[in-house]
Amino acid sequence: MPVHDPASFTSMGEGSTACVGLTKLGASLGLERLTAKLEIQNPTGSYKDRGSVVLMAAAREHGVCEVVEDSSGNAGASVSAYAARAGIRAHVFAPSSVPSAKAAQIRVYGASLHLIDGPREAATEAALAWVDEHGIVYASHNLSPYFIEGTKVFAYEVFMQLGRRLPDHLVIPVGNGSLYRGAWNGFREMREAGLVDSVPRLHCVQARAFMPVVAAYMGEDWSPDGRGTVAGGIASVDPPHKQAILRALRASGGSAAAVDDDSILESRRLLAEMEGIYAEPTSAAAFAGLSELVRSGVIGRSDHVLVPVTGSGLKDTPPS
Ligand SMILES: Cc1ncc(COP(=O)(O)O)c(C=O)c1O
Repeated sequence: MPVHDPASFTSMGEGSTACVGLTKLGASLGLERLTAKLEIQNPTGSYKDRGSVVLMAAAREHGVCEVVEDSSGNAGASVSAYAARAGIRAHVFAPSSVPSAKAAQIRVYGASLHLIDGPREAATEAALAWVDEHGIVYASHNLSPYFIEGTKVFAYEVFMQLGRRLPDHLVIPVGNGSLYRGAWNGFREMREAGLVDSVPRLHCVQARAFMPVVAAYMGEDWSPDGRGTVAGGIASVDPPHKQAILRALRASGGSAAAVDDDSILESRRLLAEMEGIYAEPTSAAAFAGLSELVRSGVIGRSDHVLVPVTGSGLKDTPPS
């Protein structure tokens, strides 16, 4: 970890989330072995806590006492929580369409929530303007290398929890790629360290209305057509690290799938009905993508697949 003093970490027990078998959902998809890693067990209800704990520890070590962040909701809530523990004042810029439970969560940690009309990118622009105007540190989870050092731990946990083995495939919802890139960095490090001979294929899932990575992977032109999606956490038009995501996709032998809102909501329902797991739509998108990847033969029946359940349904509840 790029943090010198362990006392800088204001940990709340993030990580070490459970890996559970999804036998019924797996069977319905024709898969013999499907595992979920329940990132909803993290302290603020999403995997973002893995990154926030490192980002806020680094901020503390650099003597930072006030930060600006922009987010679709979960990262804002997570940074706000860890900032509160670290004694750092947080300003979170989020789209005004942010689910009300995420907005309430950001506010209850004492952060200032700035709601910005327009698409997700408008919140980033407003955050940057605020940073310029007030000279406050921009602790963007999307840009900070500290954040993905934290999400990298996800990969090491998978290895340890599966008995020092890795699954054949991971299927990950991707907006700006903080879990995707973190996981890739972790698996790559493990291979370089000689812990494993090969790494899982890392598949990227995006919403059909926001599919810049999928389109680039397919070699297609893409631009937003004004449609929205129920998967607000992956509504990203131009991820700053798109090329890094594409490099990881190719290097890991991964594939990319775009899914529509109906299939996202259907996957969310099936995950809850069959397995008792309540995921938010952004997170359920990965399962919709999994079904697509099985249908197209990219993932084989006897392959072992792991899907992170990245965010809790309690925070984002569109009608079922
Ligand atoms: C629950 C959930 N899953 C996945 C993602 C995608 O993360 P990233 O944009 O870093 O790819 C987000 C982003 O906000 C999220 O909230």
